[in-house]
Amino acid sequence: MTRLLIMVLMFVPALALQSQQINMSKVFAEAGQQTEVMLREIPLAKQGNAELVSPRSLDSGMLKLVASRDWTSGFFPGQLWFLYEYTRNNKWKKAAEQYTAYIEREKTNAGTHDMGFKVYCSFGTGYRLTREPRYKQVIIEAATTLATRFNATAGVIKSWDNRTRWKYPVIIDNMMNLELLFAATKLTGNKKFYDIAVSHANTTMKHHFRKDFSSYHVVDYDTTNGAILQKTTHQGYSDESAWSRGQSWGLYGYTMCYRETGNKSFLVQAEKIAAYILNHPNLPADLVPYYDFNAPGIPNEPRDASAASVMASALYELSTFSNNATIYRAAADRIMENLTRDYRSGIGENKGFLLLHSTGSAPAKSEVDVPLSYADYYYLEALLRSRKLKSNKSKAAKAKGSR
Ligand code: GLY
Repeated sequence: MTRLLIMVLMFVPALALQSQQINMSKVFAEAGQQTEVMLREIPLAKQGNAELVSPRSLDSGMLKLVASRDWTSGFFPGQLWFLYEYTRNNKWKKAAEQYTAYIEREKTNAGTHDMGFKVYCSFGTGYRLTREPRYKQVIIEAATTLATRFNATAGVIKSWDNRTRWKYPVIIDNMMNLELLFAATKLTGNKKFYDIAVSHANTTMKHHFRKDFSSYHVVDYDTTNGAILQKTTHQGYSDESAWSRGQSWGLYGYTMCYRETGNKSFLVQAEKIAAYILNHPNLPADLVPYYDFNAPGIPNEPRDASAASVMASALYELSTFSNNATIYRAAADRIMENLTRDYRSGIGENKGFLLLHSTGSAPAKSEVDVPLSYADYYYLEALLRSRKLKSNKSKAAKAKGSR
């Protein structure tokens, strides 16, 4: 038994318990019912403002929509694609196509690093399922735009513009946008995108992580020589704390980078991040983290279901690469069982969101203990990943039985 396994079982006794199975078809049927509610609510919430295209959250019970330029605009189209992937019902494909089309204008928006969140979750997921040539072109154009934000001296892609506190801020979330670049190299054969993604991941590995493999939220670079100006937070409790969603972005990002490159150092990084999260004494028994692992008022701090769903999805994928597969799958199953049982909205409620109890930015007192579209997106992605793992396992068992 590895040291990591012993530590995980010691700190997270819940993982040693018998897993309860999720009734996948029931959960997807209910997700479909909720999404139907959302599709009825969106036109009502637009109030004639055609710029508002995707749901983001609830604000005092009212549906909060965003324009395509918002970093969250791609999640709802992605959710519709996931429903299509599970059901193969064309009604979801039609809706997904409609909501994906609203995001297309972002492919030339060079003012943000959030291109992967916006374009890859929508067009990328659509392309994976349909091989639609127009989607391929959007992915390539979006990656070309994102690449303009790369600075070769610093070795990283700039996250935010026009912020007075930082010169060249790079946030851990930016790891998620690299998937779009890897896709663009596969679609074009142009290695430039791949090289930028690898440089960003390597540089982030060097500067964003502490000795315990927790990560800073924002690292500020001097682009004249690549030096680090400051390491801070924006959405976490403090500069030296571990903002939960940031830890999940890092875990997901390095797992994805290993999938795309086969570079062992990315796998090891993902395993170390997983160990930090799963061994943390402040991780609650249901494995749905508080918004920050070091929030001072724990256990009376808001949870972040979005951090949990990103984490579960990442752990399922990491389990396919790592010798710690059993631990990661058990942890992801436990998160998904708890989200499904205790964090889901009632059917017909909350304007059609799937999960409750996420936190956008606690320090800004913004979107605290609310539904968030990205919690729903990664929850469905994690369910699909779990289904795939189960089906691979039963195929392998059948093949073994027939030998
Ligand atoms: N990428 C912004 C966030 O995670 O809140």
